[in-house]
Amino acid sequence: MLQSALMNVMVKAARRAGRSLKRDLGEIENLQVSLKGPANFVSLADKRAEEMLYADLSKARPGYGFIGEEGGKREGADKSHTWIVDPLDGTTNFLHGIPQFAISIGLQREGVMIAGVIYNPANDELYTAERGKGSFLNDQRLRVAGRRQMNECVIACGLPHIGRGDHELSRREMTAIQEKVAGLRRFGAASLDMAFVAAGRLDGYWERNLQPWDMAAGQIILREAGGIVSGIRGDDDPLTTGNVICGNEFVHRELVKILKPLEK
Ligand code: IPD
Ligand code: CA
Ligand code: CA
Repeated sequence: MLQSALMNVMVKAARRAGRSLKRDLGEIENLQVSLKGPANFVSLADKRAEEMLYADLSKARPGYGFIGEEGGKREGADKSHTWIVDPLDGTTNFLHGIPQFAISIGLQREGVMIAGVIYNPANDELYTAERGKGSFLNDQRLRVAGRRQMNECVIACGLPHIGRGDHELSRREMTAIQEKVAGLRRFGAASLDMAFVAAGRLDGYWERNLQPWDMAAGQIILREAGGIVSGIRGDDDPLTTGNVICGNEFVHRELVKILKPLEK
C-alpha cells in the first residue's frame, strides 16, 4: 500500500509510542503483585506516550494545534489543523494486562476529520484512514459488515463505572438492546470498538460520555469504511455531544430507533 507523507508521519509516531507502551505492558505483569499496584506506573506510561506523540507530530507538522488527553490543548500558529490524540485508550485494560488498548491519533482540518490512525501495539493491528482514500487494517481494505437483521448482529457498548455516567440509563439501554441482538460486548477501548465496527468484526457500537480523543480517529476510519457515525440522536456530532452510535446504515438507524427514546 502506497502511503502518503501525512500517513507516514502518523504511523511512525504511533509505532514509536506503541513500542514504549508495549515495553511498559511487560513491566505491568511484575507490578500486579505489589500492594501499591501499577496505577502510578501506568499514569507515567500514558504521559510518556503522549509526549512522544507530541514531539514527533509537532516536529513533522510545526504549527498544528494539539489536543491530548493528558496535556490538554496546545495551540499552534496554524489554526486550521489540530491533532486530537489519546496516547492510551483502554487504560483500565492496560492496567490489568489485558491486550485491548490503543494509541489514537486524529487530524482535523477546519473542523473536519481528515485522517486517523488507531494502533494496538499488543497485537500490532494498525488501522488507518484518510479522507476519500478508504480505511485499512494493516494492508487490508476495510468495509463495515452488511448485516440487516438485528438478531444476527453483535453490538458493543460502553459501561459507566463507579463515579461515572448514568448507571440507570445504561441498564435501560442494555435491556432494550439485549433482547434484540445476537450478542452484546464490552471491550473497554472506545477507539478499538469503532475500529472493530469499521473492520466488520462488530456490527455496531454505542457509548455515552466520551471525549473527542476517544472518537476522533475512529470517526474517519469508520466513515471511510462505509459506516455511519453520529451521536445518540442520529444526526448530531459525536465529537461535540460525547455520545456515539455507529454501524452500517441499517444497524445505525436501528440503534438510534432503540436508544434515542430512552433519553429523558
Ligand atoms: C476510556 C475507554 C473506555 C470508555 C471510557 C473511556 P481511557 O478511555 O475508551 O472504553 O468506556 O469511557 O474514557 O480512559 O482508557 O483513555
Ligand atoms: Ca480514551
Ligand atoms: Ca486515555
